[in-house]
Amino acid sequence: MKHLIDPTDLTHDETNDIIALAEDIILHREKYVTRMSGKKLATLFYEPSTRTRLSFTAAMMELGGNVLGFDDARSSSVSKGETVADTVRVVGNFADVIAMRHPIEGAPFIASQVSEVPIINAGDGSHSHPTQTLTDLLTIKRELGHIDNITIGFCGDLRFGRTVHSLIKALSRYTGIKVILIAPDTLRLPDYIKQDVCDRLGISYKEVSTLEEAIPDMDVLYMTRVQKERFLDEDDYDRVKDSFILDAAKMKLARPTMKVLHPLPRVNEILTEVDADPRAAYFRQVENGKFVRMALICRLLDWKNDARHVMPQPLNEFVDDDTLHCRNAKCICNNEDVKSKFYQSPDGVIRCYYCDSKVR
Ligand code: NCD
Repeated sequence: MKHLIDPTDLTHDETNDIIALAEDIILHREKYVTRMSGKKLATLFYEPSTRTRLSFTAAMMELGGNVLGFDDARSSSVSKGETVADTVRVVGNFADVIAMRHPIEGAPFIASQVSEVPIINAGDGSHSHPTQTLTDLLTIKRELGHIDNITIGFCGDLRFGRTVHSLIKALSRYTGIKVILIAPDTLRLPDYIKQDVCDRLGISYKEVSTLEEAIPDMDVLYMTRVQKERFLDEDDYDRVKDSFILDAAKMKLARPTMKVLHPLPRVNEILTEVDADPRAAYFRQVENGKFVRMALICRLLDWKNDARHVMPQPLNEFVDDDTLHCRNAKCICNNEDVKSKFYQSPDGVIRCYYCDSKVR
């Protein structure tokens, strides 16, 4: 069985197959209207969401399937203290596939360890958001015609922005990718992405301090919101919230073929004056999210009993050391009765297996 917890759970071929299926769904909607009839998707959303949850719901409905679930954990047994693992064991009796969003990093992974049905990570804390990544890849493919050989700028909150982490990981499978990073000092890309993904897998990247200097070189500009809810201190948020703002003047410096993506919701990082620019692709991106989730649901269920589509083996060596401790308060190992697990990345750093944060 295949779950989607991290974008690299899919092979490069599986990823491209899902994108190709999404493109076929766009062209031949009528072929798919009963594809999931009799099937149910459970959406377990422990954290606010508009787009992602509705897009999963619409995706399943357009395939002729049904949807059940909750969008507020306070109304479920979680409020009585039920663990993620138990909730998923229970929900697996009622649904054929589960999409889960959780503020605790590693929660969907723990769910996948016990689940009898495919689990889709719809966002875990600041960690990963693989279905947004599929959305982004499909959008790049449709807007530019290809994903290989692009220069992509990531701007805004690269530290807490889970969509950025997942997209960079996925792009590492493509050839000729150049990444430009634009973020305030306190919101730079985490080391584990720079070292384990960019350095190890050969993505070239550079960090620059202004959008103006980098925008002329980009094929794609991926803007992100500063993730207010992940800050422990409101003053820290206030200091960085207006750092990078895309406006019509900056768009004048960009190529006529450049595309602007944003996972949405936006706060103020893209002025509404940019929306009418044909290069603004973020509202088209939302619709792509529905099509790619339709394709993902189809494939996870097609692959459920197919031995050729299983979860990949961990890339790194586990480290057995009882003195180690994950310091990330938002990691599943510090929130539920989950045994800590660590691995050593190629640069020698020891990281938590569930949230990838540095332990030593
Ligand atoms: C993103 C998310 O939830 O991480 N939104 C989304 O899924 N479309 C980005 C964000 O919240 O800023």
